[in-house]
Amino acid sequence: MTLSHLEILRTVPMLAGVPESDLAALAKATQERSYPAGNTILRQAAHGDAMYIVVEGQVKVLLIGADGREVILSVLGPGAIFGEMSLLDDAPRSAHVVAMTPCRIITLYRGAFRERLRASPDLSLAMLAALSHRLRRADERIRALSLLDVNGRVAHLLLQQSADAGSDTFPRRLTHQTMAELIGASRETVSRTLRHLTDRGVIAIARRQVTILDRASLEAAVRPT
Ligand code: CMP
Repeated sequence: MTLSHLEILRTVPMLAGVPESDLAALAKATQERSYPAGNTILRQAAHGDAMYIVVEGQVKVLLIGADGREVILSVLGPGAIFGEMSLLDDAPRSAHVVAMTPCRIITLYRGAFRERLRASPDLSLAMLAALSHRLRRADERIRALSLLDVNGRVAHLLLQQSADAGSDTFPRRLTHQTMAELIGASRETVSRTLRHLTDRGVIAIARRQVTILDRASLEAAVRPT
C-alpha cells in the first residue's frame, strides 16, 4: 500500500503537534523522489533549494576531509528531516547527504517551505525543536569525542540507539564501518570492542538486532573518569 504524503507527514515525529490543516497544506506542496544506494542527495557547499523527509531507507550526513576521509555526523532513517538548514539561513549546504540504501524521499522546495513556516507558528516551533534536538546531539557528540575513550564512545552510541528506539532492544542498523566513522575509530577497534562487550554479557548481538543486557556497565563507560 502506498501512503499519501499527508499520511506520511502524520508519522514524522518532528511534526507531531502540528495541526492537521497545516500538515495538509504542507502535503500539497511536496514531491517524491527515489535514490539508489550510494547516490549523493546533497553536496556540501552547494546552494540549497529544497528540504527532504526520509520515507523509506537510510541516509548518512557526512563531511569529507581534504585527504578523502569521511566523518559521519549522523545516520537518518524514516521520518527524519534534512536539508532544512540552508533554507533557513541561506548559507550553502553544511554537509553531504548520501543514500546508504535505496531511499524514497519527500521533497519540499524553498519557496513552499518558507511560505508554510510563515503561515504556521506550530510548524515553525516544530522546526526550532528539531534544530534544538540536533544541537543537543551535536553537544553530546563533542563530549563523547573529546572526553571518552573508544569503549566509552561505543557505549555512548549504543545507549543513543536504544534511546532512539525507546527500548533495550533495537534494530542493528549500523555496520561496524559506519559505527567507526561515527565515533572516529577504526573498524577493527569497533569490532573488538563489541566482541568484548558481548563476551562480558553487557550486550547481545543477533543478526537483526542488538539487546542491552547490562545498562549499568554501559552507563559507567560513558562517565568520564
Ligand atoms: P543543509 O545544511 O541544508 O544540508 C545538509 C544537511 O545535513 C543540513 O541541512 C542538515 O539537515 C543535515 N545535518 C547537518 N549537520 C547535521 C548533524 N550534526 N546531524 C544531523 N543532521 C545534520
